[in-house]
Amino acid sequence: MNNSLSFESPSLSRRQFLNFLTGATVAATAGSALYVAGKFFLPPSESTGVGGAIVAKDILGNPIPATQITAEAPGTRALVAGLAGEPTYLIVKDDNTLDSMGIVDNCTHLGCTFPWNPVDQQFQCPCHGSLYAPDGTVVRGPAPLPLKIVHVAVIDDRILISPWTETDPRTGEKPWWV
Ligand code: FES
Repeated sequence: MNNSLSFESPSLSRRQFLNFLTGATVAATAGSALYVAGKFFLPPSESTGVGGAIVAKDILGNPIPATQITAEAPGTRALVAGLAGEPTYLIVKDDNTLDSMGIVDNCTHLGCTFPWNPVDQQFQCPCHGSLYAPDGTVVRGPAPLPLKIVHVAVIDDRILISPWTETDPRTGEKPWWV
């Protein structure tokens, strides 16, 4: 009795079988490559806590102790990586604690990042000259909207940043980013 696979079968010829094997190999190789490329280009997902909170990090992705920021002079605007990696200004208050409101470093005109000017007490966008007050409201356009804000809290020296979804206290209205 002949138990060998017959490639003369009408349902799967030798050529079809080889084509199938080649196609499967190419698909598996391409799939692996795409998976690796996708993992490289997509930011790693970050687990979030209550209310979507994340821990503020430095540019290297390391958590920043709150005491490192609060050791700065009152009025300091310190940049950290916030929600989804957005650069976010934390504000040191007069009592050397952190303000419960952080300001996202993303100009509402065309999305440039901008420095804090401590002399003028303004965020000043270098791209097209928009100026923002210390709380992120627009002093001069072309920026059309106030800067996005986030909640800031400190627990056990960790800085937690979470989305601001309720009324914007600067406008008394629903936030434009929600
Ligand atoms: S992007 Fe800031 S003023 Fe245009």
